Amino acid sequence: MILSGGRAKFAISRHTIPIFPEYLGFSKIIKNLPIHPIIQLDLKLLPRNIFFVSKLELKIRKLEKEIRYHQYLYYVKNRTEISDKEFDLLFKQLQELERDNPDLSSPNSPTQSVGSDLDNRFEKVTHKVPVLSLENTYNAGELQDWIDKIGKEETYSIEWKIDGASIVLYYEAGGLDKGVSRGTGGIGDDVTENIRTIKNISLQLDDSISIYLRGEVYMTFSDFAQLNKQTGGKYANPRNLASGTLKHKNSKQVAKRPLKIFTYDAYFPKEPEGIDTHQKLIDYMKKYGFPIPNDIKFVKGSEVISLIKEYEKKKEKLGFPVDGLVIKLNNLSLRKSLGQTSHSPRWARAYKFDALTVESVVEEIDFAIGRTGKVTPRAKITPVQLAGTTVTYATLHNQDYINSKGIGIGAKVKVVKRGEIIPAIEEVVKKGKKVFRLPKKCPMCSSILQKKDDSVDLYCTNPTCPGREKNQLAFFCQKKQMDIAGLGEKQVYNLYDLKFIKRIPDIYHLSQYKDDLIQLDGYGEKSVKILLDGIEKSKKNDLKVILPSLGLPEIGHKVTEILIDNGFTDIKSLLQLASSSDAKEKLMLLHGLGPKTIDSVVQNFTDKNVIGMIQELQKVGLQFKAKVVKKQGKQVFSGQTWCVTGSFQKFQPRERAMEIIVAHGGKRVSGISSNTTHLLAGTGSGSKLKKAEEYGVKIMEESEFYSFIVKEGLL
Ligand code: IVH
Repeated sequence: MILSGGRAKFAISRHTIPIFPEYLGFSKIIKNLPIHPIIQLDLKLLPRNIFFVSKLELKIRKLEKEIRYHQYLYYVKNRTEISDKEFDLLFKQLQELERDNPDLSSPNSPTQSVGSDLDNRFEKVTHKVPVLSLENTYNAGELQDWIDKIGKEETYSIEWKIDGASIVLYYEAGGLDKGVSRGTGGIGDDVTENIRTIKNISLQLDDSISIYLRGEVYMTFSDFAQLNKQTGGKYANPRNLASGTLKHKNSKQVAKRPLKIFTYDAYFPKEPEGIDTHQKLIDYMKKYGFPIPNDIKFVKGSEVISLIKEYEKKKEKLGFPVDGLVIKLNNLSLRKSLGQTSHSPRWARAYKFDALTVESVVEEIDFAIGRTGKVTPRAKITPVQLAGTTVTYATLHNQDYINSKGIGIGAKVKVVKRGEIIPAIEEVVKKGKKVFRLPKKCPMCSSILQKKDDSVDLYCTNPTCPGREKNQLAFFCQKKQMDIAGLGEKQVYNLYDLKFIKRIPDIYHLSQYKDDLIQLDGYGEKSVKILLDGIEKSKKNDLKVILPSLGLPEIGHKVTEILIDNGFTDIKSLLQLASSSDAKEKLMLLHGLGPKTIDSVVQNFTDKNVIGMIQELQKVGLQFKAKVVKKQGKQVFSGQTWCVTGSFQKFQPRERAMEIIVAHGGKRVSGISSNTTHLLAGTGSGSKLKKAEEYGVKIMEESEFYSFIVKEGLL
């Protein structure tokens, strides 16, 4: 228990630990304090912000923090550092500790909610029905106990647990009104525009019913394999790519990615008659053509376990990712009487499949130094076959991860393929020599490694570290960035090692060394031509591509788009902005930029080295200008500044409306400010509409806008 005022009177015992509240949950426990019941501490000597917590409370707070961290990685960052099973284990551990120590459980504990996928770039929508999660088990015995408690003779559905991103589809009077992410379960992100691009759901139903569907946005394995090449292999599995795409800000891009939806449950503002079982509900959904996964079965409680094995075998042939099964009670009125917790219903359980594992031995530990300087340790393991591929490396992430698993050289480990793609160490079966400690100095350049802010990762801060330079170059040339043919990662590393390139501008001087390049091992006239043509072609890229390719912290594609949308269409205007005395205030007015991004924009665009590099690139012919939408015909929107919000019937994606405005003289911005003259408001306009009203901005709805452009002959 935290004792406020604990400084003054609390008796220190062997079971209590002094801790700074700002570090609560971390291991920054003050060292060297004489903690022993018989030692009288002079409390006046202690810093003011010190409290005493019991070791048990510390354990609970640490678990809460750890779970929140992994939820954030999973739901917001779309990546993972631990397997689902490890996460579920942490979750169970916390649930049990809270059950046994209710006085130590916090109302804000992650066990009391469903996590959060909220992203401040989206409008918020309040869900009409709480969007709950599921209680998990990996154990058939536990599942049977749950069934026995409810009733073996009851009917249960068995259905696939699709591994994607949770979504709620709100159909009003037969039309798809909104698609909303699960969010916190109470409030979700409005992702309607993205959902409208998904081809296997209807935007308009045959009847004018109102129905709210729960479902999962997912991607098939084959679509993932194809698409992930284009995203530079950024996503480890189809779930992460589907979830990342769902939160893409540009629905035109989303339309190019083959997302699909499965629906598995429905709610109604006014319930239709006669639907008293899940089976009838599913039939009703099927009648309206909603996509329901095959294989849904309705069986007696006594038959569930034997069927599970059959499903497990079928899983491999499905073609889309599932991480288990969901078992649901069929009788809807019985469901109601069982009720739910703030996290999950009592009438359903997820039975999760164990991931494939195989044993191997850690032979060595080496490091990858990313372009940002992040040091990622990797375990080189004795090669083993796992799910059809030979695994030679497993990621170790950081020191905390290594410590938590107790990984050392020589350790016998269980290797798991998470989400089917990236191998990781699930557990140490037999300890190695000792737990591995990351070096204090960069293995590439010997600079002292440092931690950044709150991060658990170590960074090399030397900007000329070969590890960083190589990866900065490789990043610049990637398909998703400048897309330079002939300069894949391998070639970049090779040309770097041979000292042909060191900094980004060097790429554009390679043509001077054409003859030397032709002589290199693995090169020839043809491949050098491809390379030099690729470099030449890359000069045509505009600001939208060049800026994110520089790999400046925080300044990726999204931020670049926001800057361009707000009129910073060339580098000159950006450099001017960054060097002005009120740069931060001006940037704060742009919708969608957080404080960290604002700091980075100001810092990088006033940095001599960055400016120098930009000037060098300009000299070799790169145009730091955004392609401007061609002005067409009448400039009826000239002098006007438009912002758009909500979703539209006739303009999908809504960018189409903005293109018309820009082509006919208007300026577009992504947020409302005193300079905004018009707001084009679709359905589901939230905070922007309110702000527009406050600022007295002219608000135009879709129908009015449409009639106007038709009248003006702009279509
Ligand atoms: S039922 C109150 N059924 O799994 C109903 N969920 O880990 C709770 N999921 O948030 C959900 N397939 O995103 C249900 N057939 C299925 C599912 C399913 C995938 C997801 C869903 C949920 C998560 C819980």
